[in-house]
Amino acid sequence: MSTLKVNLPQKSYPIWIQKGILNHIGQEIKKIYKNRKIAIITDFNVEKLYGERIKEQLSTDFEIKMIVVEPGEKSKSIDVLQNVYNELLEFEITRGDLIIAFGGGVVGDLTGFAAATLLRGISFIQVPTSLLAQIDSSVGGKVAVNLPKGKNLVGNFYHPKAVFIDPDVLKTLDKRFFSDGMAEVIKYGCIRDQKLFDDLLSYTEEELFEHIEEIIYTCCHIKKSIVERDELDTGERMLLNFGHTLGHAVEKHYKYEKYTHGEAVAIGMYHITKKGEALGITDRTTAERLKEILCKYHLPYEMPTMDQEEIIKIIGLDKKNKGQYMNIILIKKIGESFIQKIHRKDIVAYI
Ligand code: GLY
Repeated sequence: MSTLKVNLPQKSYPIWIQKGILNHIGQEIKKIYKNRKIAIITDFNVEKLYGERIKEQLSTDFEIKMIVVEPGEKSKSIDVLQNVYNELLEFEITRGDLIIAFGGGVVGDLTGFAAATLLRGISFIQVPTSLLAQIDSSVGGKVAVNLPKGKNLVGNFYHPKAVFIDPDVLKTLDKRFFSDGMAEVIKYGCIRDQKLFDDLLSYTEEELFEHIEEIIYTCCHIKKSIVERDELDTGERMLLNFGHTLGHAVEKHYKYEKYTHGEAVAIGMYHITKKGEALGITDRTTAERLKEILCKYHLPYEMPTMDQEEIIKIIGLDKKNKGQYMNIILIKKIGESFIQKIHRKDIVAYI
């Protein structure tokens, strides 16, 4: 078992990473939670595969309520949130009770937001089941739901009481969604860890799974270190957005239907790296290596044909890019990233 601790001024919490931890998660939760009631929020896919297992683990010692939402981004809505609030209130949950987010990024963000706001805050635990959630969204406290005007527009920072990561559940993850998570794993290599990048490039599929616990640990370690230094995303944490500015534009242009988040980020990372090379900022051959690793993990790299004006408009609408200046994340070489503040009018050189 590998453990990490996220140390923040107001709160510290552990991240437990272990193959098979789901088979003894009841014991682990008993150590850190002493009340009776637990609401588990999940989606139908995860419930079908692992619902019985988590219930078995928890129902001897706790009073359980399972709230199951539809899988997919549509569940990060105010309507679904309201249903979740209703179900939690019907369960007569109190501020001393516990909520578990058992699923991927959508379930994690929705549950975290419900936990942060209902009764002015109820403790919650993250049990992420997708690779993306295990290495990114379950750590760092970002919780949110979407509005018709855009993604994650209502949200906050609300950290879990603990994160339990079982890499074994990735065995049942759809191949496309495994690759989706791999895009963010590759991102950590690009921004902070050349060894991780080189290892990913050299692993066979079998070796990747042999090392998956260590890979998740490495990513969570990078993320928690960055979050500890910049919890509220005003500086260093922005490095985690490498590839995301263009990625968001691609996702939005295709109405979040054609590309997964990771696929769009893969395109964004490659494109900005190529631009970085052309501008003499990024070492030559970096984009080529990035292309090689993206292809290896079945990720796209080529920017689809999109009108430049439209890209600029979408980037301008992004809530993170208000004002005259905006921040672009670039890499000098694999493992070394930095934030470049640019004037809005200069964005065209980077797209
Ligand atoms: N997913 C990026 C962050 O948590 O800041």
